[in-house]
Amino acid sequence: MEVVILPGSKQIAALAADAIQVLLQRKPDAVLGLATGSSPLPIYSELALRHERDGLDFSQARAFALDEYVGLPAGHPESYREVITREFTGRVNISPANVHVPDGAAADIPAACQAYEDAIRAAGGVDLQLLGVGTDGHIGFNEPGSSLVSRTRIKTLIEQTRRDNARFFDSLAEVPHHVLTQGLGTILDARHVILVATGAQKAQTVRDLVEGPVAAICAASVLQLHPHATIMVDEAAASSLRLADYYRHSYDNKPPWQGL
Ligand code: GLP
Repeated sequence: MEVVILPGSKQIAALAADAIQVLLQRKPDAVLGLATGSSPLPIYSELALRHERDGLDFSQARAFALDEYVGLPAGHPESYREVITREFTGRVNISPANVHVPDGAAADIPAACQAYEDAIRAAGGVDLQLLGVGTDGHIGFNEPGSSLVSRTRIKTLIEQTRRDNARFFDSLAEVPHHVLTQGLGTILDARHVILVATGAQKAQTVRDLVEGPVAAICAASVLQLHPHATIMVDEAAASSLRLADYYRHSYDNKPPWQGL
């Protein structure tokens, strides 16, 4: 696990976009793992800018979203299918047919979850997975208590998460109780994961996930088991880390050949 402490979201967006750009240049048909929430938005804007300005090419890229609400009607503006299109994929030249989102409207939920796992595997696995983190430590929608080896499945949201996400809906009552999410085992299979967290309200979560025990009570702590996890945080989100100075020192003195 590498912790990179940066001044703010602008620098985080630039560094994460660099990683995606290098990946696409090396592997034009790379498989990107996409997250929703507000944390990755500056990264998506930076990528859209590089697409427009520099011709960064997504024409062969594939993408898999982490999660989706269950029960929102097709085309609902807050369904993650719509959000990911609006915030990212609709702003670059990725083929819509190559953008996959779990089917939260499926009649047979277990079959839809298995089909999603199969599609990720058929695509050759995720090369780079972007992640945010919920205040309760969830990644995707793997709430506390999620099995550390879980695969794509239905989950029930904790009320705190519904309240956190209510800002995207007209009222709390409209936030679904159920979601489909890639499991923690699914996320661990990605070749590289980049988790982004900003702001003082994430400081304790970041400490728990980086420096706490690996435990289902903080699902994101499972990333300690990942061989290539990059945790990008701003100063506020890093403010509770015990080893912040060490992380800064390591990053500042990193051999350039290592890349990200
Ligand atoms: C939602 C998403 C998560 C995301 C989380 C944090 O619950 N399912 O993938 O990480 O929100 O959101 P934010 O980045 O807005 O704090």
